[in-house]
Amino acid sequence: MSMDQGRSMMDRWRGRVAVVTGASSGIGRAVALDLLKAGMRVAVCARRLELIENLGFEAGVPDAFMAKAADLRVESEIGGFFDAVKSHWQGVHVLVNNAGLGFEGELSTQNPGEWRQMLDVNVLALGICTQQALSQMGGHGEEGQVINIGSMSGQRVPAGSNGMYCATKFAVRALTESFRQELHAANRPVRICEISPGLVETGFAAHYGGSEDAAEKTYGAFKCLQSEDIVDAVRYVLGQPTHVQVHDVLIRPTGQAS
Ligand SMILES: NC(=O)c1ccc[n+]([C@@H]2O[C@H](COP(=O)([O-])OP(=O)(O)OC[C@H]3O[C@@H](n4cnc5c(N)ncnc54)[C@H](OP(=O)(O)O)[C@@H]3O)[C@@H](O)[C@H]2O)c1
Repeated sequence: MSMDQGRSMMDRWRGRVAVVTGASSGIGRAVALDLLKAGMRVAVCARRLELIENLGFEAGVPDAFMAKAADLRVESEIGGFFDAVKSHWQGVHVLVNNAGLGFEGELSTQNPGEWRQMLDVNVLALGICTQQALSQMGGHGEEGQVINIGSMSGQRVPAGSNGMYCATKFAVRALTESFRQELHAANRPVRICEISPGLVETGFAAHYGGSEDAAEKTYGAFKCLQSEDIVDAVRYVLGQPTHVQVHDVLIRPTGQAS
C-alpha cells in the first residue's frame, strides 16, 4: 500500500474525532500528528502538558486539536479528559490507547510501587479509557475504532525482560479480545485492534532503564522500529473497509532476535 493509497483510504475519517493517550512523546505523538494531517480532529492527553499543547499548531490545524493534562493513574482525570472531549466535540470515533510505561527490574526484588504504576497505566487506564470512549461511540450507527498499543512483550516473555511489564501487555491481549467479543455480541459498529511492536526508538527505554545510557545501549544494538512505522500500521488498520477487522498486528525490527 503506497502512502497515497493510505491517505485516500483514510478519507472517510476526515472531520471525525480521534483520542490519543500519551501523546507527549514517541508513538503517541507521531500518531496524533499523523491523524491531524489526515484531517481528523484530535484530542490528546499526557501528564506533561507543555509537550502536547502545541501539536495542533505544529500540524498547522490548531482548531482541529485539543490537549488536556491527565494522569491516567487517576480515574477522575480520565473521566475529566473524556468529558472535555464530549463537551468540545460531542463524541469520539477513534481511540488510540497508547500511553504506557515500564520499569526494569527482577520480580523477586522490584518495588511493588513500580508494579502498581505499570498495572494502573498499561492495563486499568486502557480499560477505563475504552469504557469512556465506547460510551461516546457508535451513535446513529457511525463506525468506531479502538486501537490498543500492546507489545511483543505481550506475546512471549523475553529472557531478562521485566515480568510485570510483560504481564501488563499479556493483559492488553485479553482485554482486546474480550472487548471484541462484547462488541460483536452487542452488534455495535465498533472494531478493535491491537498493535504489538517490538523495539521502537522512543522515550520508552530511557524510562525503563532509568538513563539515557540505557536507552543508547538498547537502541544501538540494531536498527529499531521508528514511531512512523507504527503510524503506518495505525493508518493500515483505519483504512480498512467496515467488513474487515484487523485484530492483531505484530511488528518486529528485522534485526530483533526474540
Ligand atoms: N518503545 C518500545 O520499544 C515499545 C515497544 C512495544 C510497545 N510499546 C508501547 O508503546 C506505547 C507508547 O510508548 P513509547 O514507546 O512511545 O514510549 P514514550 O516515548 O515513553 O511515551 C510514553 C507516553 O505514555 C505517557 N504516559 C506514561 N504514564 C502516563 C500517565 N500516568 N498518565 C498519562 N500518560 C502517561 C507519557 O506521557 P507523560 O510522561 O507526559 O505523562 C508518554 O506520552 C506504550 O504503551 C509502550 O508500552 C513501546
